[in-house]
Amino acid sequence: MVRRRMEEVDARRLLGGAPVAIVTTSWRNVANAMPLAWSMPVSVDPPLIAIAVHPGRHSHDMITFGEEFALNFPSKVILNHTQWLGMVSGLQGDKIEGSRLPYFRAKIIDAPLLEGCVGWIECAVHDSYTTGDHKLFIGRVMAAQADTDAFDFDTGLWSLADDEYKPLSYLGGRTYSVLAAAFEAEVEQRSPEQMAEEGLGRELEEVEAERAIKREEAEEARHEQERRGETEPDTSALPRPRPEQ
Ligand SMILES: Cc1cc2nc3c(=O)[nH]c(=O)nc-3n(C[C@H](O)[C@H](O)[C@H](O)COP(=O)(O)O)c2cc1C
Repeated sequence: MVRRRMEEVDARRLLGGAPVAIVTTSWRNVANAMPLAWSMPVSVDPPLIAIAVHPGRHSHDMITFGEEFALNFPSKVILNHTQWLGMVSGLQGDKIEGSRLPYFRAKIIDAPLLEGCVGWIECAVHDSYTTGDHKLFIGRVMAAQADTDAFDFDTGLWSLADDEYKPLSYLGGRTYSVLAAAFEAEVEQRSPEQMAEEGLGRELEEVEAERAIKREEAEEARHEQERRGETEPDTSALPRPRPEQ
């Protein structure tokens, strides 16, 4: 392993892999949509979400004047629609119409919600700050919905059972991804004092070492299969029926 220094401006790429959201907005009966990678929760109670939007985006003005926005979490099914929405500005015309994406009414706000997505959060603007060359809009969550094929309402987590129903992550440029699988950490909760005193413990160190060996073996087996041309063709990009409105 070689550690290599990178340009400070590229540090943001190390945060790649976060979910991409399509931000929909509405003002004076006009709607717009833009993909956005820079979002995060910033408060549980009240439920607040922050998004960073460059002032050059039409969406920036739509949010400023409309005082609301929705986050639509696209799946792989609308990967190209997502990219397209990020390559053209609403100043040039009706992007939602141009993208051919069907949409439906939100629960509370005026901005439309997009089909082909697996989760939707409606927000009213709670606050905003200028942060360097972007504007940070803090949204108060007014309503949230998720596709039951994508989100497990028992565990309160993304299910990750089917690639078609996973939220799209963004790595940078035109490169996207989806989460592979979920796995549980095996650290047991004890008193903070005990945990600090005992450290990670030998047992878990051994578990980690075993995992590393299994990972290497699986990787080697996959490479071998690829070399022999035995890997299955990827059919995960085939279209799936759109969720009910
Ligand atoms: C995957 C992806 C993520 C993006 N993330 C952001 C972001 O977090 N903030 C931002 O201001 N622009 C982001 N952009 C750029 C805007 O989506 C793009 O400039 C868009 O065309 C703006 O549209 P608008 O002028 O209609 O608002 C992203 C673009 C893509 C493709």
